[in-house]
Amino acid sequence: SRHRIPPALTAAAAAGAAVLGLCAPAASADIGYEPGAPGLGDPYFPDLGNGGYDVRHYYLKTAYDPGTDELTGTTTITANATQNLSRFNLDLYGMTVRWVHVNGRDASFDRTGERELEITPPKGLRRSSRFTVTVRYDGVPRPLGGPIIFDLPYGFLPTRDGATVMGEPNGASTWFPANDHPRDKALFTLETTVPQGLKAIGNGHLVRQWTAHGKDTFLWREDRPMATYLVTNSIGRFNVSTTTTRTGVPQLDAVDPEVASDPNALKTPALTTRVTDELTGYLGAYPFTSTGSIVENNFVPPLNLDNALETQTRPTYQSPPVEKGVAHELSHQWFGDSVSVRTWKDTWLNEGYAKWVEWYWAEKHGGQSAQSAFRDAYDNPPPIQEGRPPFWNIVIADPTRDQMFHRAIYFRGAMTLQALRHKIGDDLFIRLTRTWLAEHEYSTGSTEEYEALAGKVSGQNLEAFFKTWLHTPGKPTTW
Ligand code: ARG
Ligand code: ZN
Repeated sequence: SRHRIPPALTAAAAAGAAVLGLCAPAASADIGYEPGAPGLGDPYFPDLGNGGYDVRHYYLKTAYDPGTDELTGTTTITANATQNLSRFNLDLYGMTVRWVHVNGRDASFDRTGERELEITPPKGLRRSSRFTVTVRYDGVPRPLGGPIIFDLPYGFLPTRDGATVMGEPNGASTWFPANDHPRDKALFTLETTVPQGLKAIGNGHLVRQWTAHGKDTFLWREDRPMATYLVTNSIGRFNVSTTTTRTGVPQLDAVDPEVASDPNALKTPALTTRVTDELTGYLGAYPFTSTGSIVENNFVPPLNLDNALETQTRPTYQSPPVEKGVAHELSHQWFGDSVSVRTWKDTWLNEGYAKWVEWYWAEKHGGQSAQSAFRDAYDNPPPIQEGRPPFWNIVIADPTRDQMFHRAIYFRGAMTLQALRHKIGDDLFIRLTRTWLAEHEYSTGSTEEYEALAGKVSGQNLEAFFKTWLHTPGKPTTW
């Protein structure tokens, strides 16, 4: 209901009014205006994202001081109201909010819990109207942690010479106020100010950079819809190089000079060119208007971080990647970035496909065939981190929040796809994959939709197959 008055009361009042022969009471200013939901109802993160509006654009203006880790930000969001809004929420973890404007006017705000920013504009926002929110905030971003990302810290992270961002799945809101869920993609402009001599690397293309008052500012723009967890803002010393791939995609690579002579770091730009072009041959047109890499130095005392994230247009590697790492992260530009998960239950659609593309890449380059990689994983699943459920216990299409990046999501996910390829044949599997990507481009897709499309494209009844591989724990024996 879009009404503040409970329906029963309204009906009773209307009935009473009818009996008494009275007119309906005049609508007061905020009747029919309701708060937006504080979450989007994701099964694993019920409070992540917010209801009642749809963000079109984020302008993230930040200044970062690596000496103190202090970040000062002004975020301007342009959004469409999807209901009559009396108030609405943004996700923001920690940080101190100084002021909030809605449509240029002072708005009141509240912090409910440590992750929500509740904003009440002076006047309700009408459904379908466009509005802007500006949030001024500062503080030292606090990383998230726990079992979700391999027990590593994630979010906005200090590095040896600056900072980097690993936002997946709910860490974007560690450094900017957001509708922090892949269901609400938007365009982004990043304007980042750093001490002179350092660089800031964002998504998309560098629009311009300038120096003023002993500081350098970098303006980046991503012109295709992007989920909040894929935003990057890597700060530090970088060797930057640019080129254009054979298929015409502008490329920008940024390498931390501390690892620039590492053999894998030396290969990353050329490999990125090759993988970007070649995946286009398998999967269809590259979905974005730039490609590249950010190669960091993984050693951040006291932690040795070694992880990567498919930050849109330009994956972030916490240490120099090997070939299959580049194939993995760039395949995510299609699976994950262009087609994102509908809810965080669906991570196998990202990680299973990215792992399968690693296998396919090897097969295409005279290495092990994907079918043989399937066999190896089937006979000998990879070792599992201590304290995690055994490999065959994970239900791929609903692994629980803490196991959403369990090794089985990657390997059994890829095995599911390879078994499907084997079952329906190469041509239909590639057609299914390309149709999936085309139908959900710049949007999201769910497991249910994937299963339905697979059935349709193959003309086979795949219910038992998917039940076994995706919805049932235990090692599959027949399928
Ligand atoms: N999607 C990443 C990959 O497999 C894994 C998760 C990284 N996320 C993070 N916050 N570090 O490529
Ligand atoms: Zn991945």
